[in-house]
Amino acid sequence: MSGLGEELRHLLDRLDRAEAEERADAVELLRAWLGAESGRAAAAAAAEGVAGRFGMVGTAPAMEEVYAVLAKVARTQVPVLVVGESGTGKELAARALHEQGPRRRGPWVAVNCAAIPPTLLEAELFGHVKGAFTGAHRDRRGYVAEADGGTLFLDEIGEIPPELQAKLLRFLQEGEYRPVGASKVEHAEVRVVAATNRDLKRAIADGRFREDLYYRLAVITVRMPPLRERREDVPALVRDFLARQAERGEPSAEVTDEAMALLQAYDWPGNVRELQNELQRAATFARDGRITPAELSPALRGEG
Ligand SMILES: Nc1ncnc2c1ncn2[C@@H]1O[C@H](COP(=O)(O)OP(=O)(O)O)[C@@H](O)[C@H]1O
Ligand SMILES: [Mg+2]
Repeated sequence: MSGLGEELRHLLDRLDRAEAEERADAVELLRAWLGAESGRAAAAAAAEGVAGRFGMVGTAPAMEEVYAVLAKVARTQVPVLVVGESGTGKELAARALHEQGPRRRGPWVAVNCAAIPPTLLEAELFGHVKGAFTGAHRDRRGYVAEADGGTLFLDEIGEIPPELQAKLLRFLQEGEYRPVGASKVEHAEVRVVAATNRDLKRAIADGRFREDLYYRLAVITVRMPPLRERREDVPALVRDFLARQAERGEPSAEVTDEAMALLQAYDWPGNVRELQNELQRAATFARDGRITPAELSPALRGEG
């Protein structure tokens, strides 16, 4: 209970025997306490509102579906697979799961499986012992060990080579892994969130992705919609990005109605990331603090 509440309780305890003046004090205090309580409740509700959208911008039905799934799984440890085109916010969603989840005080470790050569990926993920291969001059921990107690984000999971898929499956099932060249198994408590812009079902049909691993990773699937399927969110995203640019001291500007209409009509193959880049570019060219169609990329003006 707050200090004010404590004081109030003492006063109420004495109220039976109280004089009129003391009663008036009690009423004063009660008013103050109620005001503070309702202020706290309002602040909590506002914070919950932000959390309700997980720091993401967008109110289109497809995004509301995303928030609903995230809300259900954030406080659990179930593996989640985030699917969607490049730039749709897959990493943002994964990060939100970490930050709203029971392991938020633990480490967040993001690994882009497509950016690491397949032959090195196992040692990067699970670590290696000294002498395990040419160049392994000492023992080295992998990303899995680094993520112990936290969340491991495996981006572009479709790029994991088949032998490693079996080892990852074992880790997901048992929490056990063996660093390259090690004789002992190690344990780590890690929540795994994976993401892909590939059609994993087709990869399974083609024999490039293990079905058992897929079902293990995709206990829950979150689908990030392409931006062209939620054009109604473009104005809010534009305002958000331009405000952030201004906050960071980067060029920012107002968007004219004509320019906004073009931003909303464009197909955005690179999705939210492309919109973000476009606004940085356009704000740099803006004159008199305004982004007009002339400041937009040729592709947006239908000249691309
Ligand atoms: N709904 C959203 N609201 C605000 N920013 C977003 C949203 N979705 C994506 N972004 C931003 O767009 C960029 C690309 O998002 P990211 O999560 O990296 O996409 P992906 O992992 O799908 O390629 C990031 O800068 C991210 O912060
Ligand atoms: Mg990404």
